[in-house]
Amino acid sequence: MRFISSLFLLSSLAFQHASAEIKKSCPEPLLPMLDPFYVPPNETEFGSDWKSKELGTILRTREVTIGTLLPGTEHDVKAYQLLYRTQDLYKNPDASVTTIIIPKEPHMNRVISFQDAYDSPDPNCAPSYGLQALAQGWGRSWNQVNLAFILPYLQKGAVINIPDYEGSNAAFAVGPQSAYQTLDSIKAALASTKTTGITADANVIMFGYSGGGLATEWATELRNEYAKDLPIVGAVIGGPPVNITSTYHAVNKNKLSQLNVWAMLGLMNAFPEMNEYMRGDLKTEAYEDKKFLHGLTKCSYPDDGLVPDLEKTDISAFFHHGDSFLGKFETNLTTVGVMGQHITWKSRPGFPLMFFYGRQDEVIGPIKDVEALVKKWSDVMIPGTVLDYSKLMPFQDHTTALITGLPMSWSWMTKRFEKVDKGKGNDHTDDGIDLELDGDGQIVMAPDHELR
Ligand SMILES: *[C@@H]1O[C@H](CO)[C@@H](O)[C@H](O)[C@H]1NC(C)=O
Ligand SMILES: *[C@@H]1O[C@H](CO)[C@@H](O)[C@H](O)[C@H]1NC(C)=O
Ligand SMILES: *[C@@H]1O[C@H](CO)[C@@H](O)[C@H](O)[C@H]1NC(C)=O
Repeated sequence: MRFISSLFLLSSLAFQHASAEIKKSCPEPLLPMLDPFYVPPNETEFGSDWKSKELGTILRTREVTIGTLLPGTEHDVKAYQLLYRTQDLYKNPDASVTTIIIPKEPHMNRVISFQDAYDSPDPNCAPSYGLQALAQGWGRSWNQVNLAFILPYLQKGAVINIPDYEGSNAAFAVGPQSAYQTLDSIKAALASTKTTGITADANVIMFGYSGGGLATEWATELRNEYAKDLPIVGAVIGGPPVNITSTYHAVNKNKLSQLNVWAMLGLMNAFPEMNEYMRGDLKTEAYEDKKFLHGLTKCSYPDDGLVPDLEKTDISAFFHHGDSFLGKFETNLTTVGVMGQHITWKSRPGFPLMFFYGRQDEVIGPIKDVEALVKKWSDVMIPGTVLDYSKLMPFQDHTTALITGLPMSWSWMTKRFEKVDKGKGNDHTDDGIDLELDGDGQIVMAPDHELR
């Protein structure tokens, strides 16, 4: 996959920054579905019923070792995991894990909540597993590649919070559930002072690209009604799939068509009716060679060698009724998969938003949909607090926009934290980074925007 190989290039940078040492001092982690850490404690162990606890309550904690892309190596940063109380799409109690990485020179009053694009309907693909040293399979490599999105912060600066926001049922592409679980992970992180050292009222910036942009945008929309008091001071939303039905059409038969399989299975994990219908409609051939259903276990049997090649595939052709499910479940797909429905004067967050996406993005759907989303936000927010960096990415696709957007995002986030620290947190205007363009129109970072 080209996307992965480009990112691989990007994350090879990781080796320059992170001191990776070959050692095998930590035990091999268990897959989430086999690891008792992921199971909420019973009443005897916890002292009360975890389900009756407030959202964001920490249920378990542990220290973990973070790996790198180089198999068998470890990052020498401290990291912790919290099992926290959250909820699913139907507001039923759920418990998820978030991974907290403390940079070597940390700012304990700054947290970046990094919604990793793990894009998977298999709970064993969660970042809490794949980020650990000695993890195996797709979950390891993909999550490690994603870790490069926030690379400078492994050295210096904000503490990183990386939630398994898809939840224990891996409901990939389900907006509200991703939002709840992201916001509850932030609450848990801020309550983890005794374990992690994070300041209880630390300033938080949310960041996510693609699938992570989905979680971040939904968390921004639902924040006021769900977790108004969280000290969030900014959000960076990259490459957001605004309408998952449009995304389905955009990626089907293209090089990332496997995303459709993962998103459909993620939705099926959340909607029993859709699960039943899709399984019933699956053609025998697609069923037998697990072309479609393999996604459910793609991180569960790391060495099964059966990974189907789904690049440039017509996913609708696996089903007797093609893509009829898009119409049949339209109400559900709109409820959980169309951004912007919760943007009102009442829901506007008191923090600035930075959007970035390539204007030639081939994954997220029509660019006019993203523009409409950004406009919707701009219409309810204070002028100057919604930044659209796509203007700087006229030729970028889904991968190159990420590579262009990362340094800008890092700079924007650091500048934003500094401004809030200086007590200018409520002055939302002028939060853009000062960009300098060289003779070729390429962006040059202003020298005072060194990362920290
Ligand atoms: C509760 O959990 C503890 C620790 O895992 C276990 O030893 C105990 O048997 C459990 N109790 C019940 C009633 O399941
Ligand atoms: C989402 O996209 C689909 C297909 O592109 C479209 O038919 C539908 O109206 C869109 N939904 C909303 C709420 O805009
Ligand atoms: C899904 O759609 C069904 C049928 O339209 C509806 O009864 C149900 O409430 C929907 N669920 C959600 C979470 O939107």
